[in-house]
Amino acid sequence: MEYQVGVIAGDGIGPEIVREARKVLDRIGETYGHKFHYEEILMGGASIDATGVPLTDEAIARAQSKDAVLMGSIGGDASTSPWYKLPPDKRPEAGLLKLRKSLKLFANLRPAYLYGELREACPLRDDIIGDGFDMMIMRELTGGLYFGKRVTEERGGLMTAEDTLVYNEEEIRRIAKRGFDIARKRRKKVTSVDKANVLDSSRLWRKVVEEVARDYPDVTLEHMLVDNCAMQIVKDPKQFDVILTENMFGDILSDEASMVTGSIGMLSSASLNETKFGLYEPSGGSAPDIAGKGIANPIATILSAAMMLRYSFDLDAEADAVEAAVRRVLEEGCRTIDIMPRDEGKKAAVTQVGTAEMGDLIAGRIGK
Ligand code: IPM
Ligand code: MG
Repeated sequence: MEYQVGVIAGDGIGPEIVREARKVLDRIGETYGHKFHYEEILMGGASIDATGVPLTDEAIARAQSKDAVLMGSIGGDASTSPWYKLPPDKRPEAGLLKLRKSLKLFANLRPAYLYGELREACPLRDDIIGDGFDMMIMRELTGGLYFGKRVTEERGGLMTAEDTLVYNEEEIRRIAKRGFDIARKRRKKVTSVDKANVLDSSRLWRKVVEEVARDYPDVTLEHMLVDNCAMQIVKDPKQFDVILTENMFGDILSDEASMVTGSIGMLSSASLNETKFGLYEPSGGSAPDIAGKGIANPIATILSAAMMLRYSFDLDAEADAVEAAVRRVLEEGCRTIDIMPRDEGKKAAVTQVGTAEMGDLIAGRIGK
């Protein structure tokens, strides 16, 4: 089959990590007889430099015309980059939010899984890790605080800023259904995370999630307050299967969950709408401090490409092959700097490799 893939390399480490994911996709193409056609699309700082805005209408249309979009990362160092002297709606992040909203990518899946080989990179105690953990964060991506009305103005002589958190029942229902559908294919447990002891939006969230749960009697539902959830992720991550939550809580909890898997460089993500289209990106940022050094971990981007094969193209065997290749390379002891063992004594047992070498190794382990 032939697939049209939009590529948003973006800023910082984005181009380096996307290059490795393409390498792996091309290897999949050669092995399984597919052809991936790529077209570069500008977004973020790279788009600001070229066009003055973080995302043009033309770029949105181009992304929409593809079967899927693979993305690196966008943004720069907020204290030094000229992009952050622009008004907030012209900064790199605004491009990403606009793309998610324009393409109606309401369902964001972020799998946080601890590879056995990365136990040594996990900051949690051995007795907490146990046999490891495997959670799927299902984050609502096009509503809530990040898309509500916001204003900064003087009120009664005081500078005042206001952000608005809005959810309607339909927005909650569609993401809840996705959460339960995914749980059905996993360990059949949904932890819905909210702040229902304070927020009206959370109380509606809880009510609608309970309604949806009635159609999934085989899936266990529990509710958890977000502050408690932040604690439970480091106290007992094994208890989680699917974590279903709204936009900002999911943003925060997914960074936390990624760290307990060893590194944010391991956390892939898929942003989906009601069609087969998806935007696939690592959950980490553009890491401008290490950009161009050839040391960034490309695994999250490679695993995001695997999610693209699975969710947008229905190529399960190919997706399995990518995931197996990642596992093989980790088993063989290859590590980028962020997933090196913490204990000095254990460093000798593994080999530190750079971004391109990691991509070559993973591509090289793909075979039928
Ligand atoms: C993420 C990022 C984005 C978000 C930023 C860059 C707008 O942190 O994908 O988690 O908050 O969604
Ligand atoms: Mg984030």
